[in-house]
Amino acid sequence: MVSHLKNDLMQRLIAEISLCRKCNLWKTRKNPVPGEGDINTLVVFIGEAPGRWEDIEGKPFVGSAGDLLNRILRKIGLSRDNVYITNLVKCRPPGNRDPHLNEIESCSPYLDRVLDIIKPKIILTLGRHSTSYMFSKLGLTFRSISEVQGKIYEVKLWGSKIHLIASYHPAAALYNMQLEKEIETSIKIVKDSINRVRES
Ligand code: URA
Ligand code: SF4
Repeated sequence: MVSHLKNDLMQRLIAEISLCRKCNLWKTRKNPVPGEGDINTLVVFIGEAPGRWEDIEGKPFVGSAGDLLNRILRKIGLSRDNVYITNLVKCRPPGNRDPHLNEIESCSPYLDRVLDIIKPKIILTLGRHSTSYMFSKLGLTFRSISEVQGKIYEVKLWGSKIHLIASYHPAAALYNMQLEKEIETSIKIVKDSINRVRES
């Protein structure tokens, strides 16, 4: 898709999200967090939902989980500017509780549209909620994040092969070095995938 058309579609989507009242989370949010990054990227990262700082700033992964994610990306030689980052749910669940099923059902069509506009070759899900959502969308069985994280799933989307990679959520790794290492490994796999897609 030509870039200016993609840009128009994304701007329209962001405008819709900013007015959205499809679930109750609009009542307590300060700002919706539609997502940000390069819309011509090969890679989309999907987190869970905005936290306190994301809600204040209207941007994804700007709090402490975001700092950890940035640190890992830098270490591996990737930058946030090269990817698109969004969440399964666009408004903050109060007190950072897990998103409810009805909230995921109301909000996930926006994620579907983001993916449809960008048509990434590689999708990285961060945490069990976005992983479970993408696995079920792509007809894969999801039992637990520990079972599926750090592996490449080759799936068909938009008639072409894409790589789905799951990772633990960076917030879970804030006080757990072992999980941080696992996330690093998953993001290294993303980097290798980018290189392979570029070569093919
Ligand atoms: N956690 C998420 O899942 N997403 C964010 O944007 C920030 C923290
Ligand atoms: Fe709309 Fe999603 Fe926000 Fe709910 S969480 S109000 S569905 S944008």
